[in-house]
Amino acid sequence: VPDIYPTLYRTLLRRIAPERAHRLGLVGLRSAQRFGGLPFLRRFAAADDSRLQCRLFGLSFANPLGVAAGMDKDAEAIPALFALGFGHIEVGTVTPRPQPGNDRPRLWRLPAERALVNALGFPSRGAHAMKTALERLDRTQLPVNGVLGINLGKNRDTPLQEAATDYADLISALDPLADYFTINVSSPNTPGLRELQQATYLRELLAKAKDALAQAARARGGPERPLLLKLSPDLPDEQLPPVAEAALAGGVSGLVATNTTIEREGVAPAWRSLPGGLSGPPLKERSRHVIKLLYRTVGDHVPIIGVGGVGSATDALAHIRAGASLVQLYTAFVYGGPATAGKILSDMLAVADAEKWSHVSELVGVDTRRG
Ligand SMILES: Cc1cc2nc3c(=O)[nH]c(=O)nc-3n(C[C@H](O)[C@H](O)[C@H](O)COP(=O)(O)O)c2cc1C
Repeated sequence: VPDIYPTLYRTLLRRIAPERAHRLGLVGLRSAQRFGGLPFLRRFAAADDSRLQCRLFGLSFANPLGVAAGMDKDAEAIPALFALGFGHIEVGTVTPRPQPGNDRPRLWRLPAERALVNALGFPSRGAHAMKTALERLDRTQLPVNGVLGINLGKNRDTPLQEAATDYADLISALDPLADYFTINVSSPNTPGLRELQQATYLRELLAKAKDALAQAARARGGPERPLLLKLSPDLPDEQLPPVAEAALAGGVSGLVATNTTIEREGVAPAWRSLPGGLSGPPLKERSRHVIKLLYRTVGDHVPIIGVGGVGSATDALAHIRAGASLVQLYTAFVYGGPATAGKILSDMLAVADAEKWSHVSELVGVDTRRG
C-alpha cells in the first residue's frame, strides 16, 4: 500500500493541535472498524512468521511488538490496531471513576526530536465505560492470538493510602475482559502516584491486587490473570533492584519498563520547561539502561516488556538484547503512522535472515549477560 502518512503528517496533522490530531487518528481507526476498512489496514502489517512468535505469561503473542498504554485509553480502536500488525495492545490507563485529566494544553510535539511531552493526567471514561467497550468488541474482527492488556491507574482524588483499593476494584470489574493487567505507578502526571513504587506502598498494593485476581479467577473458573508492574525511568539506579525484588516478592508476572521521564536530556532548551513526561528517542537510552538493570536483577524469574524510544527494528532489537522479551511503542506511531508496526517487524525479519537466528527469544538479554 502507498504510505500517505508522511504527506498527511506534513500537510495536515502537524498543523492541528496534537490532542485533536490524536482524536482524528482514533476516529479514522474507528471508521475503518465500522465500515469494512480492516482489510485495507491489514495491508500495512507484516506477514506472520514463527521466528517472531512468543509465549510468555501463559499467553501466545504473534510477534513481540505491542501498543504502549495511553494510545487507546478507552479501548476504542482495538481491531484496527491489531489489523496494523501489533501483537498485543495495552489499553488504558483506565481509572475506576471517569475523570477529565489535567487542563489543556497538555500534549506537545517536539518535531526536531520526534518526541512528545504529555501532562494528560489520566483522562479516562472510567472502568464501567471500559467494560462496556470491551464487551461490545466484535470478536470476529480480532486475530486469534491478539493479546489484550489493561493498564490500571488510580483516580486523581483517591488518597495514596487508599490507592490499593482503586487497583483491586479495577481488577474485579475488568478481569473477564483482559488477558493481562499492568499496574501503573509510574506516570508523572498524577500527583504522588510514583511514590507507590516505594516498598511499603508496593507491598500492600500488590497484595490487594493479587487477592482480587485470585478471587476473579475462582469466579471465572480459570487461571489467574498475569499481573505486570510498569516502572518509571526516573527511579535512581540504586532503587531499581529493590523495587524489582519487591515486585517479584509481591507476585508479579513481569515488569514494563519504562514510562515517560521528567528529565529533559536530549531536548532543545526551548522545550525543557514543559510540564510532564517526555517520550520518544530522547528516552531511549535511559529506558534501555533500566531494562538492563532489571534484567540483571529479576531477568531469570520474570520477563520484561521494554518500552521507550523504540522507532525501528534496530531499536526494538537493542531493547530485546538488553533484556526485554517484548517491546512496546507509542511516540513512533504518532510520527510514523499506520505503517509503523509492519515496517519494524519486516525489518526485524530481514535482520533474522542476515544474522541467521531462528527465534527472537534467542536474543533476549544477550547484551546484558555479556556484561
Ligand atoms: C500522549 C501519551 C500518553 C500516555 N499515556 C499513558 C498512560 O495512560 N499510561 C501509561 O502507563 N503510559 C502512558 N504513556 C507512556 C507510554 O505508554 C510509554 O511508556 C512511553 O511513551 C515511552 O514509549 P515511547 O517512547 O514509545 O512513546 C503515554 C505516553 C504518551 C506519549
